[in-house]
Amino acid sequence: MSILKKPVMLLKTDSRDREWVQTFGEIAPEIEMRIWPDVGDPKEINCALLWAPPAELFASLENLEVIFSIGAGVDSLLRCPGLPTGVPIVRMVEPQLTAGMVEYCLFNVLRFHRLIHHFERQQEAKHWEELTQRPAPDVTVGIMGLGKLGQALASQLKALQYRVIGYRRSALDIDGVEVFHGPEQLPLFLSQTQILVLLMPATPETKHMLNEKTLTELPIGAFVINAGRGDLIDEQALLHALDSDHLDGAALDVFATEPLPTNSPFWTHPKVLVTPHIGSITFPPTACRYIADAIRAHGDSGEWPNLVKTTEGY
Ligand code: GLV
Repeated sequence: MSILKKPVMLLKTDSRDREWVQTFGEIAPEIEMRIWPDVGDPKEINCALLWAPPAELFASLENLEVIFSIGAGVDSLLRCPGLPTGVPIVRMVEPQLTAGMVEYCLFNVLRFHRLIHHFERQQEAKHWEELTQRPAPDVTVGIMGLGKLGQALASQLKALQYRVIGYRRSALDIDGVEVFHGPEQLPLFLSQTQILVLLMPATPETKHMLNEKTLTELPIGAFVINAGRGDLIDEQALLHALDSDHLDGAALDVFATEPLPTNSPFWTHPKVLVTPHIGSITFPPTACRYIADAIRAHGDSGEWPNLVKTTEGY
């Protein structure tokens, strides 16, 4: 049966199945839910809401009309070998996910800018010393990745008076943000960035974009905040940049291997704040509303919002 007659959704989450099903029941009871691997008659399933699906999930879903990604990032979905070609994938764009990411990044920008990382150490040593602080307009925050999340962050940083610059693949006008684009402008962007925030998707093009060469294009004493994906940074090069005192600190929420192995030097590195990929977590109530609205709007217009460009990887 077509999604327009009756949406039947297969759900595979990151262990929050029950919460999602309950929320769909309250917000969009018109959608029938099936929880992987209990699919029932797979021919009835016409939509799916997924996080990191196993390859075999798609094998019998011959009537799938649309896939919704639970995460803002779709790399784990696109990597899935069983992913059918030609089925549209809708990215998760919901206000709480954006708000959570903005909060995580703002917190870390403020922590570095206001030298809280130093005061944490001073407290451990019961050491009382006032350190010189700079006003926000003297601090340049560079955001790599200027999609919905990056632009939302830029506007909050500007409200706090930071100088905000950005980097993306192609040119874009954003009010009050100097935007650099393309590999040839990357060194100029990095050389001005005192606090770097990574919000790019993980694609073959962005893998290790921060590496031995590009990390040293940042000014001495710069900070790195990675809220995107672990693959964006060559972790060995980052460790080297921290240990050689080129960088003053890093806040890392994402890693090449997650969970972060217990023997990773990041866990105990004095310049690193580690968080377990909690930068932002999709909030079922607003996400269910987004999905239900998208299905309804699709009935009217035949279009899906926020479609993933699978060939570009995000
Ligand atoms: C989390 O990492 C997401 O992609 O939403």
